[in-house]
Amino acid sequence: MKQTQYFKSQVVYQIYPRSFCDSNGDGIGDIPGIISKLDYLKELGVGVIWLSPIYPSPNVDFGYDVSSYCEVSSDYGTLDDFKNLVLQSEKRGIKIVMDLVINHTSTKHRWFIESKKDNSPYRNYYFWRKGRNKNKKAPNNWQSMFSTSAWKYDDEADSWYLHLYSEEQADLNFNNPKVIEEVKNIITFWLDLGVYGFRLDVINNIFKSSLKNAKPSLSRRGKEYYANQDGCHKILQEFHDEIFSKRESMTVGECYMLSLQDAKKFTTNELDMVFQFDHMNVDKRSIPIFSKKFNPERFKNILFKWQKGIQWNANYLENHDQPRSVSHFGSKRYHDESAKCLAMLLLCLKGTPFIYQGEEIGMTNSEFNDIKEIKDISAIGVYKMLRKAHFGEKKALKIANNINRDHARTPMQWDNSINAGFTGGIPWIKVNPNYADINVMAENKNPDSVLSFYKELLLIKKENKVLIEGEFIPIHTSGSLISFARKNDEHEFQIVINLSEKNIKNPIFLRGEVLISNYLRNDYETVDSLLPFECALIKIR
Ligand code: GLC
Ligand code: CA
Repeated sequence: MKQTQYFKSQVVYQIYPRSFCDSNGDGIGDIPGIISKLDYLKELGVGVIWLSPIYPSPNVDFGYDVSSYCEVSSDYGTLDDFKNLVLQSEKRGIKIVMDLVINHTSTKHRWFIESKKDNSPYRNYYFWRKGRNKNKKAPNNWQSMFSTSAWKYDDEADSWYLHLYSEEQADLNFNNPKVIEEVKNIITFWLDLGVYGFRLDVINNIFKSSLKNAKPSLSRRGKEYYANQDGCHKILQEFHDEIFSKRESMTVGECYMLSLQDAKKFTTNELDMVFQFDHMNVDKRSIPIFSKKFNPERFKNILFKWQKGIQWNANYLENHDQPRSVSHFGSKRYHDESAKCLAMLLLCLKGTPFIYQGEEIGMTNSEFNDIKEIKDISAIGVYKMLRKAHFGEKKALKIANNINRDHARTPMQWDNSINAGFTGGIPWIKVNPNYADINVMAENKNPDSVLSFYKELLLIKKENKVLIEGEFIPIHTSGSLISFARKNDEHEFQIVINLSEKNIKNPIFLRGEVLISNYLRNDYETVDSLLPFECALIKIR
């Protein structure tokens, strides 16, 4: 077993390097830029940084199409810059976690290029198959996440290869022990450089137990043969036993299509934590035709189910694939109040909280008024599909924008100077025009800002172990009121959050010391109504 579990007492901050801070004016965020902001992160109270991919990549999916695993993309700097980042972070008590993208490589990866030759030792690194109908039709009916078929025909190989994501992301074959060995070497390479661990990209999909035709399904056709397979568990156990259990480390696996049961298995001698998506899909936004209005009560029930079901959750409300949480679950009218409610929820639930860059200042979704402004391959794919189906330009753009991952990828808003202080050049993606109001500099000066609320709450969390190790106890309420307690032998803290724009009658009268409240109250005993997006943390004992 591992000796310490540092990550349980820490807050993780996710950086999307391309959009965080540009040091050399080329419009792309980079490693020296990150280093220049370490003091900011230290002051915020961050203990671990998770970096979205910084490996060389053709950027079809901005780093999630890796063309070389043990190098740094020149967009972001050099391996020496990276070593310096590890060192400078360490000096500030911050550890670095990398993104491990092993379900697929870029089709520009050397292995893939070699694998096109029939007799190549890399042939079996991927899934090369002859098609049906004399090689004219894809080998099976599986669906890709970013396009239609999960197979692409290649002239040179005169065969088809599997790609669960874009055509430029070819799936690796984990039935081949050599692939598993390669991955172990990659993991060890980065750990030896002082990296603390990994976020493992779409990890519950890496093992394909068969390539049979799948049963009909509106989304992710084929999943019964690749999601949560026994073969996947076996590989993760191997990584755990041979590598991670022997070092102080942290692993968190990204798992779409995950039941509580699956999650329990993944977090027993395999991974430290998993990211599940039930709460992000509360409004079914991933399938636009089924999407519905956000319902806070349903949201609460999902979160509570996972709190009770899993020993240690990876809690998050945003990442580089999701809308901004204040736009998703909060309110435009009560921007600050709702951003603070979400902060309280994120930081007080049991588990390790993951803050996504900009969430701590309440960054919002953007407006993209022209398809040319959109960089996200999945949104562009949806737009093209709709246009093909004769949707008008406006309508197609609107639907594409609902799932557009660029909302989370606009540049970090540092100050109110041009381009939000992100770059001195031309930013690779449009800056959200609201940076004049929502930015780090302004919020740092304002003791009542979203950023100040995060800092204060993180300090309270650091000073009160009950918010880290305390048991999670749901408190029964209905409607938009979310309430729960955290309890250990010595202390009991209670959290109340009104996640709506309406006043809510307060059914629970809270007697105790108010540690923090977004309406700056210092007593809740006589409060009979919670105001729109009001939240408070109260020390009962
Ligand atoms: C994960 C990443 C996402 C990427 C996909 C394919 O879901 O978070 O950004 O597009 O995997 O690698
Ligand atoms: Ca740069």
